[in-house]
Amino acid sequence: MKIIRTTDYDDMSRKAANVISAQVILKPDCVLGLATGSTPIGTYRQLAEWNAKGDCDFSQVSTYNLDEYRGLTHDDPQSYHYFMRTNFFDHINIDLANTHVPDGSNPDAAAACAEYDRLVHDAGYPDLQLLGIGRNGHIGFNEPDDHFSKGTHCVDLTESTIEANSRLFESADQVPRQAYTMGVQTIMYARSILVIANGADKADAVWAMCYGPVTPQVPASILQLHTNCTVIADEAALARCPQE
Ligand code: PGA
Repeated sequence: MKIIRTTDYDDMSRKAANVISAQVILKPDCVLGLATGSTPIGTYRQLAEWNAKGDCDFSQVSTYNLDEYRGLTHDDPQSYHYFMRTNFFDHINIDLANTHVPDGSNPDAAAACAEYDRLVHDAGYPDLQLLGIGRNGHIGFNEPDDHFSKGTHCVDLTESTIEANSRLFESADQVPRQAYTMGVQTIMYARSILVIANGADKADAVWAMCYGPVTPQVPASILQLHTNCTVIADEAALARCPQE
């Protein structure tokens, strides 16, 4: 696990965008695994700027997002389909047909998850998977558990995740209780992984991910076993980690 310390959110976002941009330049038809949340917004903004300047071409790239709330239509402003369009896809020259997010509008969880697994498998898994980390150490919506999950599956969100995500809704009551998420095993199939984190409220989770025991109680801790995982985090998120 390689840890890169940045001064602040903007520095984190620029460095993460540099890593993603390098991947796209080295392999123009690469497969990117993408994430939602507050953390990657600056990274997406930076990539969109470089795309507008002609420095990062997404025309052949395909993308697979980690997760989606169950029960939201693709046009629902709270859906991750909508998030990805408004925060990234609408601002770059990607072919929307090459972008993929689990289908939260399909109430048949088994079918929706199996279909998504098939798509990710057929794409050959991501060359680069971008991840945020939850305050409880979750990746995607893989919450602390007694085992590491495998493929895409339907999860019940924990109270802490519902509370953390309620800032984006009018109230916690409106946060969907379930989501479809890529499993931890699928995430580990990515050839390289980039985790980004900022802010003091992530410091415990980032320490546990990088230095704690590998345990499904901290799903991100399994990334210690990945052969090509980079963490880019700001000083506040790395406050508990030793300076290396
Ligand atoms: P955040 O979410 O970027 O909004 O902090 C990260 C996550 O929960 O994975």
